[in-house]
Amino acid sequence: MTAAYETLNRLLAGETPSAAELAGLLKAQGKLRERLYAAADQVRSDKHGAAIHLRGIIEFSNVCKNNCWYCGIRCDNPNVTRYRMSFDEIAETAANARKWGCGTVVLQSGDDPFFNAETLSKILRRIKTETGLAITLSVGVRTRKELEIFKAAGCDRYLLRFETTSNALFTAMHPDESFESRTQCLQDLRTLDYQVGSGFMIGLPGTTLEMIANDILFATRLGLDMIGCGPFLAHPDTPFAGKPLLEDRSVYYKAIALLRLLNPYAHMPATTAFDALEPEGRNLVLRCGANVFMPNITPGKYRSMYQLYPNKPCVDEDGAACAICVRGRIAGLQREVGTGPGHSIRKTADASK
Ligand code: SAM
Ligand code: FES
Repeated sequence: MTAAYETLNRLLAGETPSAAELAGLLKAQGKLRERLYAAADQVRSDKHGAAIHLRGIIEFSNVCKNNCWYCGIRCDNPNVTRYRMSFDEIAETAANARKWGCGTVVLQSGDDPFFNAETLSKILRRIKTETGLAITLSVGVRTRKELEIFKAAGCDRYLLRFETTSNALFTAMHPDESFESRTQCLQDLRTLDYQVGSGFMIGLPGTTLEMIANDILFATRLGLDMIGCGPFLAHPDTPFAGKPLLEDRSVYYKAIALLRLLNPYAHMPATTAFDALEPEGRNLVLRCGANVFMPNITPGKYRSMYQLYPNKPCVDEDGAACAICVRGRIAGLQREVGTGPGHSIRKTADASK
């Protein structure tokens, strides 16, 4: 038996391999790779069943004060037409999320100072009162005080990726932030009793398999309720323009499968970037560990202005079309649309140990 087969067996027996061993599994091809995907799909099925939870994402502002090197809406990109949705538009879109069968609404934006504790808490209260949906915020690093205010206003969950555990890479590509401020924010979210989501971009420029393995292990150590990862895709208007994809595209999927094996109870979305990587990308991820789908319900007129990376899918669609399309995809996978808010099962599972 090869060393990588042995690592997979030990992983399936509940052991956490070293970064070097995980890097070995990220190289898997042929039968071993299929075995990895099948094992991850089995764990997803055992712990989460056939349900795929729908979280409708509203990209409510593309204004950003930051200049992250990878991101298409970074403040220095002059080719972006900036927009902010009005309170009424955000609330109406959230009401559509409910109508279209989403148990959660995800509010995402650039790091936009207009949406501070006061404005965002007004929106959160309104959505909670009008829809009763679970609410996830994804608005970048915020102070503990702000996070407290969001929580009191009805926010249930928060998504903040750590992006990479390589200090050198993190520092180079985040002129406005430190790794410590991100991890402090994740820590604050945990102590404020949020359901916490994080993750990283797979295949940032200069990434080695060992670095991806370290990211997988770090995400696992964080004990996350949700893990969202997707491929890095180079945007032409950024300092990373023209940077290539990983030569072995299956590494993106193997990373997801390994995360699932190490984090059986975490909710894991098939992130939109997988569809930009290849047309069936999100379907493939749903077959190797993911159990959440985030249909884009942002009104059609704003979608082309929120392009973090090229080839973003569905920029010419509207929310209703995405909501219909996702049901077809789920049926095609012989899975079901999840009911209810789809809260963290990790917490319940840990409590019962
Ligand atoms: N401003 C918030 C934040 O920074 O957490 C939320 C919006 S931010 C654009 C959402 C995520 O998009 C980032 O965490 C990053 O991982 C991802 N992203 C940005 N540019 C990307 C790219 N070129 N390829 C893949 N993912 C990208
Ligand atoms: Fe601000 Fe990407 S640089 S959202």
